[in-house]
Amino acid sequence: MLASALQRCRTRPFFRAPALRWTRSHQSATNLEPCAQYLEATHPDFEHPPPDSQVAAQLHQFAQTTLGTYKRPGLVLSHGKGLDLYAKEPTRPGEPSKYRRYLDFSAGIAVNSLGHADPQIARIAGEQAERLVHCSNLYYNEWSGKMVQRLVEMTHEHGGLGLRKGAPTSPDGPNLKAFVANSGTEANEAALKFARKAAAVYANAPQRKTGLVCFQHAFHGRSMGALSVTPNPKYQAPFEPLVGNVRVGELNNIDALPQLITEDVAGVILEPIQGEGGVIPAQLEFLQAVRRRCNEVGAVLIYDEIQCGLFRTGTMWSHSELPLDAHPDLVTMAKPLANGFPIGAVLMRPEIAEAIVVGDHGTTFGGGPLVCRIAHYVLGRLAEDALRGNVAARSAQLFERLGLITEMFGDLVQASGPRGKGLLVGLPLKTPEHVGKVVGLARERGVLLLSAGSDTLRFVPSLTAAREEVDEAMDVLESALLVLREQAK
Ligand SMILES: Cc1ncc(COP(=O)(O)O)c(C=O)c1O
Repeated sequence: MLASALQRCRTRPFFRAPALRWTRSHQSATNLEPCAQYLEATHPDFEHPPPDSQVAAQLHQFAQTTLGTYKRPGLVLSHGKGLDLYAKEPTRPGEPSKYRRYLDFSAGIAVNSLGHADPQIARIAGEQAERLVHCSNLYYNEWSGKMVQRLVEMTHEHGGLGLRKGAPTSPDGPNLKAFVANSGTEANEAALKFARKAAAVYANAPQRKTGLVCFQHAFHGRSMGALSVTPNPKYQAPFEPLVGNVRVGELNNIDALPQLITEDVAGVILEPIQGEGGVIPAQLEFLQAVRRRCNEVGAVLIYDEIQCGLFRTGTMWSHSELPLDAHPDLVTMAKPLANGFPIGAVLMRPEIAEAIVVGDHGTTFGGGPLVCRIAHYVLGRLAEDALRGNVAARSAQLFERLGLITEMFGDLVQASGPRGKGLLVGLPLKTPEHVGKVVGLARERGVLLLSAGSDTLRFVPSLTAAREEVDEAMDVLESALLVLREQAK
C-alpha cells in the first residue's frame, strides 16, 4: 500500500486548462489515496541544539536581546534561491557547515513574488547601492518618479482606480498620483489620513467627517491608526484607547451598509480578498454596494491590496477587471512591490490627490532611490505575460489538488473546500487547533505554510512556483494530514 501511495504522490493527472477559479474535481474520491511519502519528520525543529553549536549561540542571542513579539521555531535561516530556503544545521565547532532545505510556500508572507535571491534584483541592488541609497525627500531622485510613473501607466494598461483596462494616459491632464512609504502599515496609515483630509475638504464641514469604517476579520497593520481598523481584540485590547469614531461592519452584508456608512464617515477601508483574516473574498455585489454608499455620503473608499494586489490574484489589482462601479478611490500596496526590500505605497485618483498639500504627510525613507529602482524593475517583471500565465496554471493546479484533499480528508477539512483566487488560497479546517499542528507537521517535513484567521491554512507561494513545487507542497500536506489523522484518533 505504501509503495502504491508513493507512486501516486506525483503522478496523478492534476492539471487542467489554466483557470483562476476553482472547479470541484469530477474525479471520484473513492479511488484516491493521499501521498504517504512524508510520514516521517525529516526536518525536526532544533528545539535543543547542542549547546556548543553556532545555532544554539544565535538562538540564545535572540532570546537575550530581541523583544519577544513573535513565536518562532528554533531555526535560523541563512539564504535562499527561488522557493528554496536554507537553515544552518546545528553543527559543532570544527565540523563543516551543513544546510537544510525548506520549500517556502509562504513567500515571506506573500512578499517574495519573484522568489528568493533573484539574480537581476541582486545586480540592480548592488549597482544602485554603489550609486545612491538615500538622499531624503527634500530632493528629487532618479528612481522614485520613474517607479510611480510605471505604477500609473500599468494601472492604465491593466485597469483600476476608476480606469478601465487600456484607458489612455493623459500626460498633461489629471492623473493618478502615489505617495511612497516603507511598509503596508504605513501605506494604510497614509491612506486613512488622506481619506479624512479629502472627505473633509470635499464636504466642506471638517468637524463632521471623521468616521472610519472597517470590517470584521480585516488586517490593516499594527500602528495606532492601522490597528484601529484591524478589529481583532487580541491585537487591539492591550493598546486602547485607539483612534476614535471607528465602526466595524460585517463583510458581504449589504443590508447593514446604510447604518454603517453614515454621513459622518470620512473613509471606508477593506481588503477585496481578506488575507490574514482567513482568505475571505468580498463579493462583487457587496463592493458595488459599498462604492454606491460611499458616493451617497461623500466617504472615500480605500482598498487595501497589500496582500491581494500586484498580480497575486491574477490581475494587477484584484479589482482591475471588476466593473468600474466597484473601484476604490485609493489602493494601498506593499509586500511584493520590491520583492522583499521594504516599501509601501498609496495610489489614488486625481480628486483625492488634489486635496493633499505640502506638509500633509511625510517620511524620511519612503521613495528612496535604492528601493524605488528595485520596485521599478519588479513591476516590469510582475507584469510579464509568462508570469501571469504561470499564476493561472499554478492556481488551477493548487485548487485541483486542494479540492482532492477536501474529498480525501472529509474528517479534517471543511466541505466548502479551498477558496481565494490566483495564488492567494485558503483551505479551512474543521478544528481550529489543527491549523497550527498542520503548519508544524509540514515544516517538520520541509515545507513552510501559513495559517490565516482561526481555522484556515494559507497558500501564498512565489508567483514563479513550478508545477513540481506545487506538487511537493501538496504531497507533504497530504502526508501531514495523514499524520494528524492518526494523532487525532
Ligand atoms: C492586507 C494587509 N494590510 C496591511 C498589512 C501590514 O503590512 P506591513 O506588515 O508591511 O506593515 C498586511 C500584512 O500582512 C496585510 O496583509
